[in-house]
Amino acid sequence: MSKIPEAKWKRTQKAEARYWAELVDTQNEKFFERTEEYYEHFKSHFSNCEYNTVVEFGCGPVGLLPHIKARQKIGLDPLILEYSRMGYDYIKRDYCIINAKGEDVPLLDFYADLVICVNVIDHSNDPLKMLEEIYRVCKHNGKIIISCDLRNQESQTDTWHPIIISAQEIKRFFKDRRCKIVSQEILPPHRIMEGVDPTSGTLNIVVIKQ
Ligand SMILES: C[S@@+](CC[C@H](N)C(=O)[O-])C[C@H]1O[C@@H](n2cnc3c(N)ncnc32)[C@H](O)[C@@H]1O
Repeated sequence: MSKIPEAKWKRTQKAEARYWAELVDTQNEKFFERTEEYYEHFKSHFSNCEYNTVVEFGCGPVGLLPHIKARQKIGLDPLILEYSRMGYDYIKRDYCIINAKGEDVPLLDFYADLVICVNVIDHSNDPLKMLEEIYRVCKHNGKIIISCDLRNQESQTDTWHPIIISAQEIKRFFKDRRCKIVSQEILPPHRIMEGVDPTSGTLNIVVIKQ
């Protein structure tokens, strides 16, 4: 699992912000195509379920929170202020947002009974720290849902996706903490995933923290 310097991560985040700035006019569509794909994959964990507290790491301008039932929903992302200033409208949403990095989350231990993180870990600067935060804020018997694009070598990284990370590393992280892996699947690179080597893929994994 690689880690990158903060300065490099800030450059990737500038590129990320430019990417989303071009999509601001599509925000009122029911789903962005990209978000719908994640929803479809994980929907058995969302439909007919009502959670107490859900936290989405790297919720971005859209994310999955609008489609999940819970008493309390929190989305965090280090670009929330930029997204809001671009015109993404968080005001009418039924969840709270926090401008924060997933490596340093201002939430209590054991806070959430569902933690979601889709298409974010490979955008971070310290994926191990982010996994530790995901694990920390999840309650015992809580559920963690992760989708992460995989990259095995430097040549598969690009401006937006600077991190080398494998499915084995993510699974080992949870196994070392005695989490129960409920489901795991490596999919071919998703339809609209930009800049990924076709030999790579996406890990979709659901775990229960014991
Ligand atoms: C490709 S977008 C995905 C957004 C959303 N999860 C979705 O699927 O539409 C990646 C998001 O990860 C966020 N991100 C990047 N580094 C992060 C970090 N260290 N902690 C939390 N979020 C981060 C970015 O700001 C961006 O909003």
